[in-house]
Formats: sequence, C-alpha cells, structure tokens
Amino acid sequence: MKIAVTGKGGVGKTTLTALLARAFVEKGYQVLAIDADPSPCLGQALGFPSDLVARLEPIARMEALIYERTGAQPGSIGGYFKLNPRVDDLPDQFAVEHDGVRLLELGAVEMGGAGCICPESAVLRSLVTHLLLRRDEVVLLDLYAGVEHLGRSTADAVDAMLIVVEPTVRSLATAAQIKKLAEDLRLPRLFLVGSKVQSDDDRSFITAGSPGLAVLGFLSADTAVRQADRTSAAVYDISGRLRSEAQALVQALARVRAEG
Ligand SMILES: Nc1ncnc2c1ncn2[C@@H]1O[C@H](COP(=O)(O)OP(=O)(O)OP(=O)(O)O)[C@@H](O)[C@H]1O
Ligand SMILES: [Mg+2]
Repeated sequence: MKIAVTGKGGVGKTTLTALLARAFVEKGYQVLAIDADPSPCLGQALGFPSDLVARLEPIARMEALIYERTGAQPGSIGGYFKLNPRVDDLPDQFAVEHDGVRLLELGAVEMGGAGCICPESAVLRSLVTHLLLRRDEVVLLDLYAGVEHLGRSTADAVDAMLIVVEPTVRSLATAAQIKKLAEDLRLPRLFLVGSKVQSDDDRSFITAGSPGLAVLGFLSADTAVRQADRTSAAVYDISGRLRSEAQALVQALARVRAEG
C-alpha cells in the first residue's frame, strides 16, 4: 500500500506519517517511510535514536552516487545524463531501521515539472517511481507541501493521498489548492485527515469546510507530541489516544484499498 501525506506547513504531516508507520508495523506490514522534506525530521518523530538519525544521508546529497548513476555531477544543468538511472538497490542500501520502520531521506531538490532537469532530480524521481510501482510493502511518503514528487506515471500507484488539515480556514484553503493540483495529475483517492483537533466543533469545522473530500479520520491535539519531541520518544509510544487514532486510520486505509 502506497500512501502520500501532504498539506500546509506545520499542520502535522510528519506526526501523522510517523504514527501511521508504527500502526502499520504493528499490523505486521513491512513499512518504508520516506522523508521528502528538505529539512528532514521524520526520524525524530519516529523516535529514531540520534546515532541512527546521524547515519541518514539524504539521497540528493550523495554526489558520488548521483554521478555514478547518472553520469553527471549534481547541480549540473544541461549536458547529458541518464534520465532513468538504476535505483532499485538504494532503499536497502541507505534506509535505516528502528522499531520495525525503515526510513529513507530524499533531501532537497526542486522536482517540479519540466523546470528542473538535473541529475539528482533524475535519481530521486526514478527512486520514487521505483518505490511506488515496484516495491511490495507499505510506503509512506511525507511530502512537504504539494505533490511535486509525484508524476503522472506514479499517480495510479498511490493508494491514498492524505491531505492533513488543522481546524483552520488557511489549512483548508491549502487543501483545496492541493486537491486541484492532485486532480490535474489525476491522483485518485484523496482524503482529508484532521489534525490537532480539540473538540467536536473542530471536527465539524473540518468536515463542513472540506473542499469536497471525505475525511478519513482525525488526530487529537495532544501535548504528548511536544513531549515526544523533547524526550526523543516516538509519539506512538507515549500517547494511547494518538495511537488508537492512528490504528483507526490504518483500518480506514485498509478499507479504501479493499474497495479499490
Ligand atoms: N496532534 C498534535 N497535537 C499537538 N501538537 C501537534 C500535533 N501534531 C503536530 N503537532 C505540532 O505541530 C508542529 C508541526 O508538526 P509536524 O512537524 O508533524 O507538522 P508538519 O506538517 O510535518 O510540518 P512541516 O510542514 O514543517 O514539515 C510541531 O510543533 C508539533 O509538535
Ligand atoms: Mg514535516
């Protein structure tokens, strides 16, 4: 199952991705979590110990690798390089694992549209395509804002795209923009996930303000998120409430998948 997580900055995408990753592991799935944020922090949210986080190197910054695979130096524009480099060995080589979750960092590259044609974007795009189309496991993509990492060829492979929203007008407006971009790519199965909700009022606000998307579930506002951040713990381990909300989301995703 392949799940992409997106939404306005700061709404709780990384927290959701980390919670889902652990909930899927608990269900017995193989889970690969992908941090596509230019300032990665999914490792921390997953409670990875700092020595493991230190071992993570964003693929986009592996200059020797990018050169080896594409035949060109990262950052070079124009010139010749391979547009579909070999990447199938990269997840096993560079992912690090903790609590059953394997984590890979992509690093920062502009991958939007035709504007960027550089060797590192070729590697990342091939890698995302490979992960989405070929690997038989749960893949969770923590995209920062937007859907730039996804192209038409991978859109069909995404079983669900989750747009995270807080109970605010602004995050719902961003969700509406993302929905439009996603529909341009013909990404199917878009859902909202409400984040940091404090009351039924918040839940109703999100449901009523949804840009025509079903709400897959909600995550409560919980001080455990901040506490986890300060203690380097995984939120999943310290908040029973968020844990059960994540488990409910995994069940909802399983239903989405079953319905095709
Ligand atoms: N359920 C929650 N309850 C309370 N605080 C939360 C919750 N989820 C996220 N937060 C807080 O909101 C902030 C942003 O969370 P997070 O990093 O998960 O969001 P993000 O969407 O990934 O952000 P970014 O766009 O910067 O990548 C953090 O300070 C986090 O502690
Ligand atoms: Mg994030």
